[in-house]
Amino acid sequence: MAEERLARDTAPPGGRSAWLSTKPRRISEIEDAPDEARQLTHIGEFDRVMGGGVVAGSVTLIGGDPGIGKSTLLLAVLQRIAEKAGPALYVSGEESQAQIRMRAERMGVTAGELYVQSETAFEEIVDAARRLKPKAIVIDSIQTMYTSQLASAPGSVGQIRETAAALMGFAKQTATPVLLVGHVTKDGAIAGPRVLEHIVDTVLYFEGDKGHPYRILRAVKNRFGSTNEIGVFEMREDGLAEVTNPSAFFLAERPAEAAGSVVMASLEGSRPILVELQALVTPSHVGMARRMVVGVDANRVSLLLAVLEKRAGLFVSGHDIFVNVVGGIELEEPAIDLGIAAAIASSFRDKPVDPGTVLFGEVGLAGEIRAIQRPEVRVAEAAKMGFQRCLLPESNAKRMVSGGGAAASWTLELVPVRHLREVIERLA
Ligand code: TYD
Ligand code: MG
Repeated sequence: MAEERLARDTAPPGGRSAWLSTKPRRISEIEDAPDEARQLTHIGEFDRVMGGGVVAGSVTLIGGDPGIGKSTLLLAVLQRIAEKAGPALYVSGEESQAQIRMRAERMGVTAGELYVQSETAFEEIVDAARRLKPKAIVIDSIQTMYTSQLASAPGSVGQIRETAAALMGFAKQTATPVLLVGHVTKDGAIAGPRVLEHIVDTVLYFEGDKGHPYRILRAVKNRFGSTNEIGVFEMREDGLAEVTNPSAFFLAERPAEAAGSVVMASLEGSRPILVELQALVTPSHVGMARRMVVGVDANRVSLLLAVLEKRAGLFVSGHDIFVNVVGGIELEEPAIDLGIAAAIASSFRDKPVDPGTVLFGEVGLAGEIRAIQRPEVRVAEAAKMGFQRCLLPESNAKRMVSGGGAAASWTLELVPVRHLREVIERLA
């Protein structure tokens, strides 16, 4: 339950309704938004997730755990805009100007046109913005902002909703892109009213594991682009660095000839990434066998264990089983089934998988290997990374070979597989 006080004045602060109040027009008569309405930051990983730069007048919400690097990312984004386009305004309700300056120094952010304001009052921010006419504004964070139109405290549902809506109005009226930082709750949703995610144009999540340096920027909503894209960054001493070749990054520490380690070609959005998956299968000495899974769905692993046992004759019950995706990345798509099953089989039999082999495919309950989407890009990525063999669903392989074209240029051998039993015989 949250107390919510209504403002007496029913007009929303900032005149939010002005930009949305129009007369009906024929759809064919409405002008296109001009192309130059997008600003590239030339941080490639960020621009791609945004759908090709920051759109004028758009409002973007960026959520993520505390300390994951939201402020660092947005400071870098503003630095680029300040260098290229003109004044940019970074408003923080959490840190003093001196603190922000310290971080900026560490990151080498020195753009002359980057302005920093420590402020939580919405009216003051708009005032400053109207005078400065920035090319982009960052509000860090929306939970610390308040408007004097409401009596409730900053961070309350009413305040978050009103300030966000008012900022939206400001963004549309002045064609200024606004980037909002949003805190997340324990279960990972952006704190505050759900309506926040509805009113903004773009919602990004910045994710990663505190114990690992890599960070993933993911779009979950984007009115100006696809939500399939991800950006990969690495947190360094001097700020965030782009990871343009994530496969190399995730495979950097792969043990040679270790049983239980396989490389899978997974797809994150439209991007193929090769990741290492490790399984460890050991006889259980306590009554109940332990199952521990990191980075993939535990239920999916249970299902695959049942299939391995019933359809491939691998009697894994009575064994403790640990499964881990290296690098702390989380994988969700069905194409990783085959990798999980192969890693478990490899560890169970204590036979390493050939290190030059990559695999992908969905595993059905009968042990059959089912086709997955976009095999070409996965195979191409594996070839690019120097792998020699790729195990893939037969139906995918057929279509790729008969499709001709690109397949000819691959230097890697395609090994079509139909059943899990066959895969295990080949691998271990
Ligand atoms: P920050 O951007 O403040 O996170 P958020 O705004 O999401 O809460 O990042 C904080 C963490 O990042 C902090 O633990 C230190 C680390 N960091 C670096 O490792 N290198 C850097 O250059 C910076 C600026 C931060
Ligand atoms: Mg921060």
